[in-house]
Amino acid sequence: MSDIGLFEAIYSTRSMRRLKPDPIPREVLDQIITAGVHAPSGSNFQNWGFVIVEAADDKRFIRDQYLKYYREMERLGSIPRMADIPPDRRRLFEAAIHLAEHMDEVPVIMLACTGTDFPTYADANNPRSITATLHASIYPAVQNILLAARALGVGATLTTLHYFFEEELKQRLHIPTDKEIAGLIPMGYPHGRFGPTTRGPASDVTHWGRWGEVGQEV
Ligand SMILES: Cc1cc2nc3c(=O)[nH]c(=O)nc-3n(C[C@H](O)[C@H](O)[C@H](O)COP(=O)(O)O)c2cc1C
Repeated sequence: MSDIGLFEAIYSTRSMRRLKPDPIPREVLDQIITAGVHAPSGSNFQNWGFVIVEAADDKRFIRDQYLKYYREMERLGSIPRMADIPPDRRRLFEAAIHLAEHMDEVPVIMLACTGTDFPTYADANNPRSITATLHASIYPAVQNILLAARALGVGATLTTLHYFFEEELKQRLHIPTDKEIAGLIPMGYPHGRFGPTTRGPASDVTHWGRWGEVGQEV
């Protein structure tokens, strides 16, 4: 497959939740992860790890837990029930439920892991700086992974619902206690087409010098 341009990839990398079961070749996964590890991380610690889940029983475990908490979120009202969703947002939630129900059928579920501690700030008595930096040290890699996947024709979605069953998942997959799973990323060749993404204009969210000074062309 010929390379696509960077901006084409950025503008067309949307969440792909309807995926074929066809396997993703090892060299494609290697290329995707290599793009991930070229991302920046705090102090260049590169304190990350990417677990590739392919075994059927592990994927079923993830599907069962993910679906259980998805339904729990619906029950609590944090995820709206289908009947309450305005028509223009229904496709998103239909796709999200489809992914939850069929998570075990995708060829690969990638777990993007980061450290639970950031030594540079350990003595600074500012826990928020640690949490923020840990997450800021993995999500650039995740975005590189999503972009590289898209460039290679692989669909993916960043999800975080696993935080409700993270400990069980870590134990099952022997993920060490000093790592957290920051992203659960189902991947596979998509049924549908990539992009375009739907976002508001940059000018609405750009503040020139002071918050609230918006409206200029970006
Ligand atoms: C932090 C984060 C958590 C997300 N969690 C989920 C999730 O649990 N399930 C899901 O289907 N999509 C999840 N998504 C995907 C978003 O719903 C999606 O990126 C957003 O609706 C924009 O749609 P697009 O990616 O198709 O352009 C998550 C995205 C982010 C950035």
